[in-house]
Amino acid sequence: MVDRSPFVVVANRLPVDEVTTDTPGGRVTGSGDSARRWRRSPGGLVTALHPVLVERHGTWIGWSGSPGPAPEPFELDGINLRPVPLSEEDLERYYEGQSNATIWPLYHDNVEPPVFRRRWREAYRVVNRRYAEAAAEVAAEGATVWVQDYQLQLVPAMLRELRPDLKIGFFLHIPFPPIELFMQLPQRAEVLRGLLGADLVGFQQRLAAQNFIRLARHLLGTPYHGNVIEYEGRQVKADAFPISIDVGEMQRLADNPLVRERAVQIRAELGDPKTVILGVDRLDYTKGIEHRLKAYRELLAAGRLSVPESVMVQVATPSRERVEHYQALRIKVEREVGRINGDFGRVGVPAVHYLHQSYSRSELAALYCAADVMMVTPLRDGMNLVAKEYVAARLEHGGALVLSEFAGAAGELRQAFLCNPHDLDAVKDALMRAVTVDEHEARRRMSVMQRHLRRHDVARWASDFLTELGAIP
Ligand code: ADP
Ligand code: F6P
Repeated sequence: MVDRSPFVVVANRLPVDEVTTDTPGGRVTGSGDSARRWRRSPGGLVTALHPVLVERHGTWIGWSGSPGPAPEPFELDGINLRPVPLSEEDLERYYEGQSNATIWPLYHDNVEPPVFRRRWREAYRVVNRRYAEAAAEVAAEGATVWVQDYQLQLVPAMLRELRPDLKIGFFLHIPFPPIELFMQLPQRAEVLRGLLGADLVGFQQRLAAQNFIRLARHLLGTPYHGNVIEYEGRQVKADAFPISIDVGEMQRLADNPLVRERAVQIRAELGDPKTVILGVDRLDYTKGIEHRLKAYRELLAAGRLSVPESVMVQVATPSRERVEHYQALRIKVEREVGRINGDFGRVGVPAVHYLHQSYSRSELAALYCAADVMMVTPLRDGMNLVAKEYVAARLEHGGALVLSEFAGAAGELRQAFLCNPHDLDAVKDALMRAVTVDEHEARRRMSVMQRHLRRHDVARWASDFLTELGAIP
C-alpha cells in the first residue's frame, strides 16, 4: 500500500546525493546488499521546501542521479523520497538530448543553436509520463503537486488527465522565450498544452509570464484577462516569482570564523593581490565565461589591469559533460585561460586561476568573502543564484558585483555594475568601475542589495508561490 501525500514536489532530480565510500556521513537506507547512503544535497530549493515537506508529510519525486533501476522509496530528514528510474538511453535522449541540447539553448535565446531530434522528443514524452504516473500514484485526494522546471513541461497536463482532483503548480527556473523563438520548437503545441495543465505557472520574470500568455493566444487562440488564461473550461494563472537563496545560511557561513580564516588564506595563496576578481559558474555556454575572460585579457593587454596587482579566479563546475555544446565550450574556455596565462602570467603567478571542480558550501562562501569583485556575466540566465550568494556573503565587507542585464537577478540587484555581456567594451568598463569603486560607495551599494535579499529569500519565494496556488479555487 503506497503512502499518499497531500503535498508532492516533482523535479528532474531528487534533492539528495548518494554518499560513496570515500565521502563521510550520510544516512543508510535499505539493508544488506541494497543498503545505500544518502545525504541531503545543498541548495536553496530543498532548503525552502524542506519545512513545507516535513509539515505536510510531503513526497519529492525525482531521479537519484545514477542510471538504471531506481532505489526503493525512502525517507531522509523527514521527507519521503520517491526515485524515478532513468536508463542510460533516457539520459542520452530525454536529459542530454531534448532537455539540454534542444530546450535549454532555445529557451536561452538560442545562444547556441538548438538541436532537434525526433527520438529525443519521444523520449521526453515517455519520461515525462513516468514522472506524471509516479506523482499520480503518491498524491493524496485533492493534494497539491508542484512540478519544477523545463525537463518536465509535459507533466502538468499528463497529471491532470490522470488525476483531475489535484491542484497543480509549475515553476520554470529558466527563461521563457519570446514567441518567435518558441515557435521553432517542433513539439511546441504539446509543450504549451503540457504547461497549461497546471493551475498556476510561475516564471522568474514578468516578461516571461507575458511571453507565455501571448504565446497561448498566438498558438491556441486562448483568451485571457490580465494574467489569467481561459483554457478548456479552466483558468490558468501565469505569474512571476523571482527565486532567491537561503540568505541566512550564506550569512552564517560568511560569519563563521573558519570561513573567514579560509578567505584570508585564499587571498594569501593568491599572492595577496590588491584585487581578486571571481567567477563561479557551471561550465555552461549561457554563462558568458569566455566573454568575461576576453574582457579581462583586453584590460591586461591595455595595461588598465595588471598582474600580480589583480588576479582572476574562475571556478567552472563540471556540467552536462557528454553534451557536445558543453565539450566545445570547455575547449574554448581552457584555450582562453591558457592564452591569458601564457601572455600575462609569470612563474608561480598565473593571471587566471581556473578550477574545473565542485566545492563545498563553506569553500564557496570563503571564495565569495575573498573576492573584491564578482563577475556574473551570463548571456541569458533565468535568475543566477551565484549573484545573490555573493551579495549575501559580503556582510560588512563591501565588494562589487558586475552583473549582466540578461540575468533575472538584474531585475532586483540594481546597485550592481550592470552591463551588456555581448558588448565587450561595456563589460570592460563595468569591471573597471567595480575595481576602482571607492569603499564607501561599494558598501552603500552592497547594503541596499543585502536589504532587498533579506526581505526576499527563498522561503518567501516558496510561500508566495504556494499561497497563490492555494488561493486558486
Ligand atoms: P544554474 O542553476 O544555472 O547552475 P545558478 O547561479 O542559479 O546557476 O545556481 C548555481 C548554484 O550552484 C549556486 O547555488 C552555486 O553556489 C552552486 N555552485 C556553482 N558552482 C559550484 C561549485 N563549483 N561547487 C559547488 N557549488 C557550486
Ligand atoms: O537552473 C537550471 C538547472 O537545470 C537546475 O534545475 C539545476 O539544479 C541546474 O541547472 C544543474 O543542472 P543539471 O541538473 O542538469 O546538472
